[in-house]
Amino acid sequence: MAEVVIVRDAEEGGEVAAGLLARVVAADPEAVLGLATGSTPLTTWAALAARGLDLSRVRGFALDEYVGLPPGSPQSYRATVQRDIVEPLGLDPERVRVPGDDGPLEGAGERYEAAIRSAGGVDLQVLGIGTTGHIGFNEPGSSLASRTRVKTLTEQTRRDNARFFGSADEVPRHCLTQGLGTIRDARRLVLLAWGAGKAEAIAGAVEGAVTASCPGSAIQLHPEVTVVVDEQAAAGLRYADYYRHAWRHRHELG
Ligand code: GLP
Repeated sequence: MAEVVIVRDAEEGGEVAAGLLARVVAADPEAVLGLATGSTPLTTWAALAARGLDLSRVRGFALDEYVGLPPGSPQSYRATVQRDIVEPLGLDPERVRVPGDDGPLEGAGERYEAAIRSAGGVDLQVLGIGTTGHIGFNEPGSSLASRTRVKTLTEQTRRDNARFFGSADEVPRHCLTQGLGTIRDARRLVLLAWGAGKAEAIAGAVEGAVTASCPGSAIQLHPEVTVVVDEQAAAGLRYADYYRHAWRHRHELG
């Protein structure tokens, strides 16, 4: 079972996640991080930046990218990663990849998989979760073994992401995303969620059946997962008291 950490709010959760990231980078200054966009990880990036570590040799692979936005669009995940992650953390932009950033759409998934492999794989993958239960942009129905590929977004996800665009109509219909198999290959996963809107997706991902109908449930197939959630996002967890108990007593085994 995943380690589930229930925190007061996104700030405290960001500190917990930043601690995990800092440990990975301390062990290897060239660590490979899996980078998630969206609003959820912002407190993690801020908490990590506040530690003032030298992250200039870290390598990064984004989870996903829209297909069909005009080049340089501020809503692209390339631009978002640059703004929200590369600049505040002082990463080297040359060492950070986003799916599809190296040529035509055709073959982009295979090229991205090859790039991750030649970097030695992802050491720690940060994940948010969508209200449909998606991780990356793996919408319900995605194979638990899928690799980086083009997907069609659900209308729900397009509505959810409309806040970053002028309207839902401007949100692209397609994307490139690491697959659930790609994500599961990372050595460690950290899944973050804040707010009541994520409670159902978190309950499904952490305690529901492992099923393509809730792509987040793929985390249950991974041996090294930390789920960091605030009280609202934890509201649907049946074993919340046990997770709190286990976290309180975590130091007793040395
Ligand atoms: C997007 C991203 C996901 C992200 C999810 C949740 O669709 N592709 O990687 O986890 O939305 O976003 P937010 O963190 O803004 O709620």
